[in-house]
Amino acid sequence: MTVVVPVLSACHGVSVTHGVGDATVVSLDDVDAAFGAGERAALWGPSGSGKTTLLHVLGGLVRPTKGSVEWKGAPLASRPQGIGYVFQGSNLLPSFTAFENVAISRSIADPQSDIGSESLELLALVGLERKADSLPSELSGGESQRVAIARALAQRPELLLCDEPTGHLDSDTAARVLALIVAAQEQLGFTLVIATHDADVAAGLDRCVELRDGAIVEDSQ
Ligand SMILES: Nc1ncnc2c1ncn2[C@@H]1O[C@H](COP(=O)(O)OP(=O)(O)O)[C@@H](O)[C@H]1O
Ligand SMILES: [Mg+2]
Repeated sequence: MTVVVPVLSACHGVSVTHGVGDATVVSLDDVDAAFGAGERAALWGPSGSGKTTLLHVLGGLVRPTKGSVEWKGAPLASRPQGIGYVFQGSNLLPSFTAFENVAISRSIADPQSDIGSESLELLALVGLERKADSLPSELSGGESQRVAIARALAQRPELLLCDEPTGHLDSDTAARVLALIVAAQEQLGFTLVIATHDADVAAGLDRCVELRDGAIVEDSQ
């Protein structure tokens, strides 16, 4: 029996170009992709292949020049609900503690929730409750990235988009951070799409979508 997983996020005939005339740069060229509920996929390819641009398109941060983006069966809104983002650098707010970085995100997502205890729970999920009162400058690269993951999870995302989440980390720390993201996905069930140039990261996920020069050249699905 074939199990049909509902499509959560998709793009249809998406192109993204920058500039005009001879100076035009094509970041994505007629890309079709669909990601199902609960799926764990890598966008894999070398630098400049269009991974970040595709994540931005799926997350509503960049509007495609051509084509359309779908979110839960409807056209993607400009400020979609339910999509979390982990940036390449952790991008934490530097003058706020780890706890506050998570709590601000939680309060934006749901001001009526029990922000304090839920934020601490999220820090515990990434193993950092002891660092709740630390500023980003007092955290290691791996710890900062774990706070950034907790902050993204505070949105209660149905789709988590991660852009080279282990790109700045040494290989042991990178493996731990990736394992943590996968464990969170197993516990919470969101759809996970990770952009990476790292074959080991891609191998740790269930599906690999390979990008070259702004186009999908292979999809292991
Ligand atoms: N805002 C922009 N203006 C001009 N070119 C861009 C812009 N964003 C991305 N590009 C170009 O688009 C291509 C794909 O970029 P990107 O999506 O960042 O690739 P990746 O994340 O795989 O390294 C690259 O050639 C990059 O230089
Ligand atoms: Mg990139």
